[in-house]
Amino acid sequence: MSFNEEIAKRRTFGIIAHPDAGKTTLTEKLLLFGGAIQEAGAVKSNKIKKGATSDFMEIERQRGISVATSVLAFIYKDKKINILDTPGHKDFAEDTFRTLTAVDSVIVVVDVAKGVEEQTEKLVEVCRMRKIPMIVFINKLDREGKDAFDLMDEVEQKLKLRVTPLSFPIGMGYDFKGIYNIWEKNINLFEGDSRKNIEETIAISDLDSPQLEEIIGSKPANTLREELELIHEVYPQFNKEEYLAGDLQPVFFGSALNNFGVRELLDCFVDIAPTPRAKESDTRLVQPDEEKLSGFVFKIHANMDPKHRDRIAFVKVVSGTFERNKPYLHVRLGKNLKFSSPNAFFAEKKEIVDISYPGDIVGLHDTGNFKIGDTLTEGELMNFKGIPSFSPEHFRYINNADPLKAKQLEKGIDQLMDEGVAQLFTLEMNGRKIIGTVGALQYEVIQYRLEHEYGAKCTYENFPAFKACWVKPKDPKNTEFAEFKRVKQKFLGHDKYGQLVFLADSDFSIQMTQQKYPSVELFFTSDYQ
Ligand code: G4P
Repeated sequence: MSFNEEIAKRRTFGIIAHPDAGKTTLTEKLLLFGGAIQEAGAVKSNKIKKGATSDFMEIERQRGISVATSVLAFIYKDKKINILDTPGHKDFAEDTFRTLTAVDSVIVVVDVAKGVEEQTEKLVEVCRMRKIPMIVFINKLDREGKDAFDLMDEVEQKLKLRVTPLSFPIGMGYDFKGIYNIWEKNINLFEGDSRKNIEETIAISDLDSPQLEEIIGSKPANTLREELELIHEVYPQFNKEEYLAGDLQPVFFGSALNNFGVRELLDCFVDIAPTPRAKESDTRLVQPDEEKLSGFVFKIHANMDPKHRDRIAFVKVVSGTFERNKPYLHVRLGKNLKFSSPNAFFAEKKEIVDISYPGDIVGLHDTGNFKIGDTLTEGELMNFKGIPSFSPEHFRYINNADPLKAKQLEKGIDQLMDEGVAQLFTLEMNGRKIIGTVGALQYEVIQYRLEHEYGAKCTYENFPAFKACWVKPKDPKNTEFAEFKRVKQKFLGHDKYGQLVFLADSDFSIQMTQQKYPSVELFFTSDYQ
């Protein structure tokens, strides 16, 4: 197969959803269709039950051993499909944001009864801003839920999407009879049998045919005709170009648990979802079919087994081929590195591969060379853009609780920050370290991991900040900047790249600062330059 055919074969995407909407269940059913797993229950949920840190530790432990769950790959209809795992829990939202920089499209799962939930709103907003093509899957149709039209309205309004249904439910909950597939023009009847893998579909080329009454009964048949008429009038025609440009989002309905409506989704997905897309770097746009390798690290996964303290850096191949034992330039370090055992992922397994193509994810064993966002090339000096840090929402001093283990603590903090677990700020005034996180859960995770992986102990102390603002003076030499630094010295620190950060204690203080020091610009993400 030629290089271009390999690229054309690949579909790399993420599933985003609020916890419990059915992401894990859908992933599993997709893998079943791909023949990558034989039975349900094979995919580990990365779900964290409310407040249970132990759940997280257990999950992380399992995942540490089987990191392959971060990428699940399978073949379907000759397409190589890579699903990138995205944690739904809000405390790990940043991990998901970073993963979204490596996907070429997403599927958004919405619970038919709960509708659009908070976490989905946030994640979809990021995808919308990046113009990532999205397909919406409305799940749990076997349950009583909201009216299908109301739901599509909700998706349009809350997620600010422009939708068009490509399948439509016939009844819902107890009266759920099946799905009319607008895309393929056929009906799929629901029998509520979750063991069934591939359903039989009945082709209906003419909706006016009395065959429709025979299949679903006369009342549902009339309702369906009316609803389809309405869809035709109200919603835009599906158009692949608009979908690929991020301007139109097709909607599917189904029940992941019952494996219903999933095949329709997958068949359409392999037809329309984008092949690996070009990516912007700081110097130019990189096309996937370029001959030379380029790629970037979007995730680092620690091995939770203390006996093997190596990590796996996940690299998305953007262009060219990634080959085993070939030297590549680690641009930030200015160093050539060779990898003797790059991993590829298949279903829940990982294996060493000789060659990977654009769209693929390669897992590299790492002993501390990589940080999130690092770029690999064949010599070109460029860096891929698009993994900014967002301001954390919680801030605490981190203190060493075991004076004999100061070095271990330092190393542990350093490595955990490289993994992107949290952000570290060092106060300019006294060098004290502050950890900033998106959710409170991370503090426990950090404490646990420092102890179990590095043998270091820490305690925390509150730091009264509310937001981190990256500071950029219009003129670093003017007196206004000097005055700002003097007045705010207690709240100034540096992030791990040495950038100046103002740790503001309230929105009011941010506003006052902006008014008082107009030549000192404040930014809420780290990629302001
Ligand atoms: P998540 O990864 O998005 O967090 O969701 P997950 O797939 O774990 O699904 C959350 C719950 O919703 C699970 O039930 C799952 O069985 C259920 N579910 C998923 N799809 C459907 C569907 O189409 N219909 C119905 N009725 N339920 C569905 P649970 O009781 O929380 O977990 P479990 O004990 O069944 O695993």
